[in-house]
Amino acid sequence: MTAIIDPLDADAGLLREPAIAPPADETGSMTRRSMLHHVGVGAATVIVAGIGAGSYRVFDNGVLDAGHGSAYDPWTNWRNDPTSLGTVAAAILAANPHNTQPWIFHVTADTVDLFSDPSRRAGTLDALEREHHIGLGCALENLVLAALARGFQPDVILLPDVTDPTHVATVRLTAGNKVPSSLYDAIGDRHSNRGPYTATTVPADVLSTLGSVTAGLDGVDIRWFTTPADRAALGALVIDATQAIVDDVEQSNDSYTWLRMARDDIDTHRDGLTLDTQGLSPVILALAKILPATSRTAGDSFWLNQTRTVHTATAAAYGVITVADPADPTLRLVGGRLLQRIHLAATVAGLGLQHMNQITERVDRDTQLGQPSTFGPKMEALVAQPGRHALSTFRIGHPVRAGRLSPRRPVSQVTR
Ligand SMILES: Cc1cc2nc3c(=O)[nH]c(=O)nc-3n(C[C@H](O)[C@H](O)[C@H](O)COP(=O)(O)O)c2cc1C
Repeated sequence: MTAIIDPLDADAGLLREPAIAPPADETGSMTRRSMLHHVGVGAATVIVAGIGAGSYRVFDNGVLDAGHGSAYDPWTNWRNDPTSLGTVAAAILAANPHNTQPWIFHVTADTVDLFSDPSRRAGTLDALEREHHIGLGCALENLVLAALARGFQPDVILLPDVTDPTHVATVRLTAGNKVPSSLYDAIGDRHSNRGPYTATTVPADVLSTLGSVTAGLDGVDIRWFTTPADRAALGALVIDATQAIVDDVEQSNDSYTWLRMARDDIDTHRDGLTLDTQGLSPVILALAKILPATSRTAGDSFWLNQTRTVHTATAAAYGVITVADPADPTLRLVGGRLLQRIHLAATVAGLGLQHMNQITERVDRDTQLGQPSTFGPKMEALVAQPGRHALSTFRIGHPVRAGRLSPRRPVSQVTR
């Protein structure tokens, strides 16, 4: 079995002059990182597989069947079930931090209760569980849209049990009219897009339409960063925060825990961050899968480099969700609902979106360690909205290539 991949593909050249350091692998063997460095320099055509160990890794790591298999089935069957359980099938497709899928659902014919799963926290990377709660808010938004589309009138009660902080929401479902929506229809097409975006700007009226989806969501707002100076300043702070995370061994370790490099790991866990979702060109992606798995530090270098040369370099605009108090669990949940809405609206508009929370991850880490905040005051100066603080950050733009599916645990595994 042979697959021929042409690196002259439109943007394979993106990594032709990477800033990553040359191979420093102690064994001297070629790693994914070093291949990413060297690839494209001379080759006109790369032939993947064919014989020997290469073909084993092609199959082992899903080079030829990315986005297929049971770990990806939830993306195809989420509309099928018209009952209350069907709302969960839509909820689990939401954006969520590090694809930890931090949720548990209790479902009856006329209620869905959403719980946090504490075993799915991201440790020091999400030191104050901010993103954990935002991700639950994202799932709640999909659930509400799915309830409306199925003819339920959803009544959302946030944090209904003061004695149980893991009980995030109760959604009561009463009979109503079916309310389909373009946002609902976009649930299965929304993916994080970590690839390059084109130089085309996103017009102000498009951003303002995206930011206007706040109906019923109190206490959350959005601040757009669109001018070159604004974008450069925020991008530089994101890069500095990425470096700080990479330099913090505990944060780096807690991030690495959620990387799923091998297809077996994806099929077993059905969660975490995969190579498919890193926004790489087809040829780089295929090579990255075939070569031996990268180490934590090499992965960090790759991430830092992508942040510098792709994510911040090609961001057409940034959005920052702001709130009065980022520690308030209600505002985190409502902010998550807004983020998910914006991401769905961006999908409808054909825009790519990538969450980029390195700055607030460092803000919370400093708080956890009881040390002066390096990034908090700088971020507040950029947001420049008295009394408001950054809850969550993302970049947006016209993507060069489509985002790819990330794995999901099935409904049966997250319902009790
Ligand atoms: C609160 C929150 C924080 C996130 N932070 C980041 C981030 O800093 N960088 C990033 O690339 N993706 C981030 N993501 C995106 C998730 O990694 C992504 O949603 C998850 O892997 C599932 O993939 P999908 O969005 O394609 O379905 C974040 C998502 C959420 C909801």
